[in-house]
Amino acid sequence: MPGRLAGKVAVITGGASGIGLASVRLFSREGADLAIVDREVAKVPDTAREGAGKAPLLLEGDVGDEAAVERHAAAVDERFGGFDILLACAGWSSRKGVPDTTLAEWEGVLNTNLTGSFLWSRAAIRTMRARGGGAIILIASQLAFAGGRRNAAYLASKGAVASLARSMAVDHAPEGIRVNTIVPGAIRTPLLESGFRRAEDPAAARAWSVSRHPLGRLGEPEEVAQAALFLASGESSFTTGSCLMVDGGWLAG
Ligand SMILES: NC(=O)c1ccc[n+]([C@@H]2O[C@H](COP(=O)([O-])OP(=O)(O)OC[C@H]3O[C@@H](n4cnc5c(N)ncnc54)[C@H](O)[C@@H]3O)[C@@H](O)[C@H]2O)c1
Repeated sequence: MPGRLAGKVAVITGGASGIGLASVRLFSREGADLAIVDREVAKVPDTAREGAGKAPLLLEGDVGDEAAVERHAAAVDERFGGFDILLACAGWSSRKGVPDTTLAEWEGVLNTNLTGSFLWSRAAIRTMRARGGGAIILIASQLAFAGGRRNAAYLASKGAVASLARSMAVDHAPEGIRVNTIVPGAIRTPLLESGFRRAEDPAAARAWSVSRHPLGRLGEPEEVAQAALFLASGESSFTTGSCLMVDGGWLAG
């Protein structure tokens, strides 16, 4: 049986780890040809480099660097003739409140999380227009909507990402380009684990996070990848401008 993404080309940023890597594996199993963008692309394991489609194109660089994004988008065009799906996962956090945040930290977080989403979305819209449509999926965070402490730049960037997605959804719906945001809860990835390690009491931080989810556990990267697959595939053909919570109920109460 053909995969749910057979014949599609997907760009996944932040595809070397966590949610991006789980999506690389799932999208590949579902038949997509992939371009994986990451500033540490060598971390992509060999097992994630073989799927139903062609061998993935590995692109190393910073999603917040305009010249690198343009170079990478041109490489995707050259290899695959454009792309149909963008999943923008690259992201990080400085985990500080405003008084402790340096301008460099502020700009660094905004540059990856927001500007990186903007730059790759711009490249995606260009190619998707030429192909008659496509799906753009950005990643926000439950913390942008409730319960985020001492994480100012991250929360600001993620709130802006959700607004950016809604804005593009309205502008580009007539061109057949759907734009949606995934709102994960706490997902067991290297990013989350490093956050716990940096807490004053890592065990207490983990326990609080678990207890904050009505489902009573942390999420798995594969559970977010399944949501991304839905938003990337034709099964979500009437869904645009939405925020899909994959947060174990965090925002519900
Ligand atoms: N894990 C969570 O609990 C959680 C919760 C809510 C939202 N998110 C969001 O999900 C996305 C994926 O996070 P994750 O937990 O899988 O993190 P992760 O650290 O496991 O993976 C992120 C990947 O992005 C890459 N990256 C970071 N900055 C980059 C840049 N400037 N250019 C290119 N690549 C870059 C990293 O090298 C890494 O491979 C992020 O946007 C994050 O904010 C995660």
